Amino acid sequence: MTEMRTNTKKLFIKTYGCQMNVYDSDRMSDALVPHGYETTLDINHADLVLLNTCHIREKASEKVFSELGRLKELQTERRAAGGDVMIGVAGCVAQAEGEEIARRAPVVDMVFGPQAYHKLPDMLARAEAQRHVHPTMKQAIIDTDFPEEDKFEHLPAAKKEVTIKRGLTAFLTVQEGCDKFCSFCVVPYTRGAEVSRPVSQVIAEARGLVDAGVKEITLLGQNVNAYHGLDGSGRSVTLGELAYLLADIPGLERLRYTTSHPRDMDDALMEAHRDLDILMPYLHLPVQSGSDSILKAMNRRHTAAEYMSIIERIKKARPDMALSGDFIVGFPGETDQDFEDTLRIIADVGYASAYSFKYSTRPGTPGANLGDQVAEEVKNERLWRLQELVNTQTTAFHASCVGKTLPVLIERPGRMAGQVGGRSPYLQAVHLDGSTDLIGAIHQVEIIGTSTNSLVGRLKVAQAA
Ligand code: SAH
Ligand code: SF4
Ligand code: F3S
Repeated sequence: MTEMRTNTKKLFIKTYGCQMNVYDSDRMSDALVPHGYETTLDINHADLVLLNTCHIREKASEKVFSELGRLKELQTERRAAGGDVMIGVAGCVAQAEGEEIARRAPVVDMVFGPQAYHKLPDMLARAEAQRHVHPTMKQAIIDTDFPEEDKFEHLPAAKKEVTIKRGLTAFLTVQEGCDKFCSFCVVPYTRGAEVSRPVSQVIAEARGLVDAGVKEITLLGQNVNAYHGLDGSGRSVTLGELAYLLADIPGLERLRYTTSHPRDMDDALMEAHRDLDILMPYLHLPVQSGSDSILKAMNRRHTAAEYMSIIERIKKARPDMALSGDFIVGFPGETDQDFEDTLRIIADVGYASAYSFKYSTRPGTPGANLGDQVAEEVKNERLWRLQELVNTQTTAFHASCVGKTLPVLIERPGRMAGQVGGRSPYLQAVHLDGSTDLIGAIHQVEIIGTSTNSLVGRLKVAQAA
């Protein structure tokens, strides 16, 4: 019997963690296109499985090893049937625990960190060659270096048809890494030092996206507002200044950015929010805690009052700014009063949405050595109370939109036939009755109600003059 096999190989990527990992997964799949790979959504068809992992909290890291257990079974089945599957672990767990993964899970062929993605085709070729020589005996290829060269220079852009398939909104990483060293956080160790991509590279990538029909770009960075990419004359450009340059791209209708650090909210960014309609009035600005002593122990390097004054400034620049944040409950030493201070800052700000987490001890971070850990039941109770408060605020924010007319970028068919869905400027999901012809443009939508986590709208028909 001859094996039916085309030259195209199939790649399946499972992505964990933040939006930067989502972006990176696409770039990895773009990097493999010239080498004959196309992406599949069915793991059972894959010739290569990549796990793009997240190390931020303990639970996120553990998922990798349980997934590798399942992949071992998949590989065994595949081999029994005369086939095979290669396995790679990328992302922040790979960066932090490269050797350990290879040791604990011999099933992996490659383990490589976020700064090695441009070397993926080369690693894969080496892993394949090794397979060829010793089909079962192999040593994983490990690359967790922080190389000198600019990986983005070496990563190919997506093909236009691939970008078209990915939809109307796109991520674009402009900055990577972190120099802030908050005492709870692994990111400075897994992603390395802050690096900004040059302005020309960002503009070229944005133009390519818009040329393929993208209407909304979200600029990404672990500290996106610490962006300081160089322009053609070697001058350092801030995120606010970059926003003005991107606003000049014809066809780009919306611009967002995430995640920002309070210490990098400079005047240029405030001015961009004041001046540029393209810059959406939604800001994700994590504060983590409302207690000054906890903020200090976290090494956030700002006080609760300083955070509040930033919120005031941003609201002055853009009065309808919707705010979002991240919170950690149960950081070592957090007292009832510290936690009450966190609830108070949430009450004072009034968030449109927020993400909250129980403190998770991360090996290698300064926080891991602190005594005075908070009991799990206390963390659970605080998390519950915090989320109750935030949920009330989210519901109130959605309700405040009812009766307003909002521009909605219609992106997809809705859950029910005859419906379409999209996003408001404030990143809320909006559903409305309408034909799929509406998809691809911003339409004025009257908000007539709310449902769980989304708004219900009605297409506003333009009045005859
Ligand atoms: N660069 C961003 C956030 C990156 S991590 C910033 O500075 O805000 C995303 C969120 O995960 C953080 O804002 C924090 O709330 C949470 N987080 C990070 N490390 C954590 C830990 N060890 N335990 C619990 N939550 C954590
Ligand atoms: Fe982590 Fe702090 Fe850097 Fe954010 S700013 S990535 S929380 S170290
Ligand atoms: Fe996770 Fe790494 Fe992002 S640790 S949150 S995938 S930067």
